Amino acid sequence: MSDAEQIYELANYYAEKGQMLTRARHQIYENIRDFLVAEDEGKIVGVAALHMMWNDLAEVRTLAVAEGYKRKGIGHKIVTDLMEEGKALGVKKFFALTYQPEFFRACGFSEEDKNNMPQKVWMDCINCPKFPNCDEICMTRLAD
Ligand SMILES: CC(C)(COP(=O)(O)OP(=O)(O)OC[C@H]1O[C@@H](n2cnc3c(N)ncnc32)[C@H](O)[C@@H]1OP(=O)(O)O)[C@@H](O)C(=O)NCCC(=O)NCCS
Repeated sequence: MSDAEQIYELANYYAEKGQMLTRARHQIYENIRDFLVAEDEGKIVGVAALHMMWNDLAEVRTLAVAEGYKRKGIGHKIVTDLMEEGKALGVKKFFALTYQPEFFRACGFSEEDKNNMPQKVWMDCINCPKFPNCDEICMTRLAD
C-alpha cells in the first residue's frame, strides 16, 4: 500500500502529457495487487499492472517507466514478469490498449482489431475522456 502514492505520481505524470489514461488514487488502492514495480534505492522507477478481465483474458495496463530510466529494459522486464504471473493464474491471452505499439511488439504482442475483444473490455472505456473516439491501438499475445 505504501507504493500507491508513487505509482499515482508516475502514472499521472504521463497522463498529463496525454500518453496514457489518468488513474485515480482509489483505482490504484483498490487494484494494488495488480501492480508490479521496479525500484531504484527505494524510488519507484517503473510500474505496470495486470488486470484480470474475462475468462482467460488479462490486460496489461498503467505501464510507465520514469524519465531517465527508459530504454534500459525495465518496461520489458515488468511486462514479462506480469505475464509469468498471469500464466500461473491460468491466463491464456494478454492485451493492452496503447499508444506504444513498438514497445508491445518487442514484448511479443501483435496488433488486433479492437472489435475482437469481449464487451467486458469496454466497461472501463465509459470513464475515459476520449470515449467513444478511442485512438489507442489494441495489442495482444498468447501466453507461452
Ligand atoms: C512505453 C514505456 C513504458 C517503455 O518502457 P522502457 O523501459 O523504456 O522499455 P524497454 O527498455 O523495456 O524497451 C524494450 C523494447 O521496446 C521497444 N521500445 C521501447 N520504447 C520504445 C519507443 N519509444 N519507440 C520504439 N520502440 C520502443 C524497443 O524495441 C525496446 O528495445 P531496445 O531498447 O533494445 O530497442 C516507456 O517509454 C514509458 O513509460 N512511456 C511513457 C508512458 C507510456 O507511454 N506508457 C504506455 C501506456 S500503454
